[in-house]
Amino acid sequence: MTDYAPTPAFTEQAIGQAGLYDEAAADHEAFWAARAREYVTWSTDFDTTLDWSDAPFAKWYVGGQLNAAYNCVDRHVEAGNGDRVAIHAVAASGEDRAITYADLQREVCKAANALESLGVAKGDRVAIYMPMIPEAVVAMLACARIGAPHSVVFGGFSSDALKARIEDGEAKVVITSDGQFRKGKAMPLKDAVDRAVEGTTASKVLVVQRTGIDVAWDDERDVWWHEVVESASDQHEAQPHDSEHPLFILYTSGTTGKPKGILHTTGGYLTQCAYTNAVVHDLHPQSDVYWCTADIGWVTGHSYIVYGPLANGATQVLFEGTPDSPHQGIFWEIVDKYKVSILYTAPTAIRTFMKWGADIPAKYDLSSLRVLGSVGEPINPEAWRWYRDNIGDGTTPIVDTWWQTETGAIMNSPLPGVTELEPGSSQKPIPGISAEILDDEGQPLTEPEKVGYLVLTKPWPAMLRGVWGDPQRYKDTYWSRFGPEYYFAGDGAKYDDKGNIWILGRVDDVMNVSGHRMSTAEIESALVSHPRVAEAAVVGASDETTGQAVVAFVILRQDGAEGGLEGDDLVQELRNHVGQQIGPIAKPRSIMVVDELPKTRSGKIMRRLLKDVAENREIGDVTTLADSSVMNLIKQGMDKPAAD
Ligand code: PRX
Repeated sequence: MTDYAPTPAFTEQAIGQAGLYDEAAADHEAFWAARAREYVTWSTDFDTTLDWSDAPFAKWYVGGQLNAAYNCVDRHVEAGNGDRVAIHAVAASGEDRAITYADLQREVCKAANALESLGVAKGDRVAIYMPMIPEAVVAMLACARIGAPHSVVFGGFSSDALKARIEDGEAKVVITSDGQFRKGKAMPLKDAVDRAVEGTTASKVLVVQRTGIDVAWDDERDVWWHEVVESASDQHEAQPHDSEHPLFILYTSGTTGKPKGILHTTGGYLTQCAYTNAVVHDLHPQSDVYWCTADIGWVTGHSYIVYGPLANGATQVLFEGTPDSPHQGIFWEIVDKYKVSILYTAPTAIRTFMKWGADIPAKYDLSSLRVLGSVGEPINPEAWRWYRDNIGDGTTPIVDTWWQTETGAIMNSPLPGVTELEPGSSQKPIPGISAEILDDEGQPLTEPEKVGYLVLTKPWPAMLRGVWGDPQRYKDTYWSRFGPEYYFAGDGAKYDDKGNIWILGRVDDVMNVSGHRMSTAEIESALVSHPRVAEAAVVGASDETTGQAVVAFVILRQDGAEGGLEGDDLVQELRNHVGQQIGPIAKPRSIMVVDELPKTRSGKIMRRLLKDVAENREIGDVTTLADSSVMNLIKQGMDKPAAD
């Protein structure tokens, strides 16, 4: 036994046991049929586990009917667990509110009735643009109850980004709040919605009063949550929906400027979320206090705050604030106060805590923690060990979980009671999932240290069912690189000599900044929409804390410069412009104004060379450049401090 093998005591109590691997290997479909019946309550049982005849459009649990909100709420009350706390809602101010499953049932029913009174019916789309408050969870579940797919838009996205998502999904209603607290200050939120809904299909805006700040009001369109939801009946019958009924759309960045609406449906998604939350996080709903620190605006919040843990009847913390507010020990104060036993967070947060120093968590009692999780980007072994030693007391298992918005739920991860851990690697597919690494020609790689592409070789229940409104893009993006039998994940990967899979990051033009997906094309198109910019190239440069950082190179237009901003002021203006177009998270860390960009003879920008510059490396092979002197010019410019 090494340091990183599970202890016998952990293994004995673990939900995910080694036998699951054998069961899944023996019969893939029978395995998933058993999980669906184990973790989900069906109003009508399914007759076919998987219909893959129309590949790559899968149907899971065909003939089955269920209601996701019933599974996440009502059935726990019916089982006698109505008094169990579902959510410890911890406000940014530190105030808290315990919401039991019985409370949640009443709130979800009221919200479902209120949405119906606003004209929302099964199949209608509802956009949700909210801070991390319990009403956001209630809103999602109310939509699920009605069968109205939600489209949650991260509250840090701009009004323009929200508008594009409302338009693409043709949302009928937007749910938001007057404002949100950011580092103790009330900031506006609804005014971004006011601008976003102009001229769209959204005819109603439902507004939670969170901060009490002044908001503009349109009597025809706007309604207060505390008026329509509070006065609604707390009885609402959850109708069964088909297993393949759309549950939500979630937009994510791809390789073009336009975000993709990733579509997830009900039965398969819920099954895999609940199963993975049970076996990977080892969630014991009677005794654990679980905390996933993601925002509900990202897939991790959907799968591991809302659908997985609530389907399992978990008690969880929902935190409105950020890791540094009101102080740098707030995470550990919360773990201590609520006796959090399972913590699921992101490498970028762990690296930030490392930077702040181990003496901060050392001030708190973290002995309640028994499982730690990591998600969103590769975790470097150093950060992994720091996490284990300083948060996990040197003994707590860490589950490094690889998955994507598209996969819906965890795909590669250790099982904490089974796997001997390898710091920095998400190790291997969980039971029921099959992955391989292919080389450029599509041949499977098995030798250690050979770098290839990660592919998934069998359909899985939580897989995306398509790109909203664009079936061709779905096929082209995921099912064409290596032919229709391989799902191409877009990540580079290799095996080590123990057979562990190491994810090496994106191989396409997608960056991963603080665990958030950003597309180079999307930021480039935001930059060129500024009147002063003629051309732009964006790369992800490695960054100690955020994993990658956005670095932009721009060529200015010759015309229109008279009297305009210059130098640092112009750079600042361009950064703000990107913030306004997409959101503050997309603002480049630095912007270089250059005269030329390195291009091939066919005009393709060679981002690889720009990345060398951005990461301060020797510049690589320039022989395919149309003009090889360009890189010298850029390099010289880089030595002058033009960026902030
Ligand atoms: O590159 C991989 C990285 O994040 C991408 C998926 O991003 P997104 O759809 O935003 O979902 C993030 C939350 C699941 C992947 O293609 N990624 C995610 N988790 C890991 C990871 N890379 C390495 N290790 C991980 N554990």
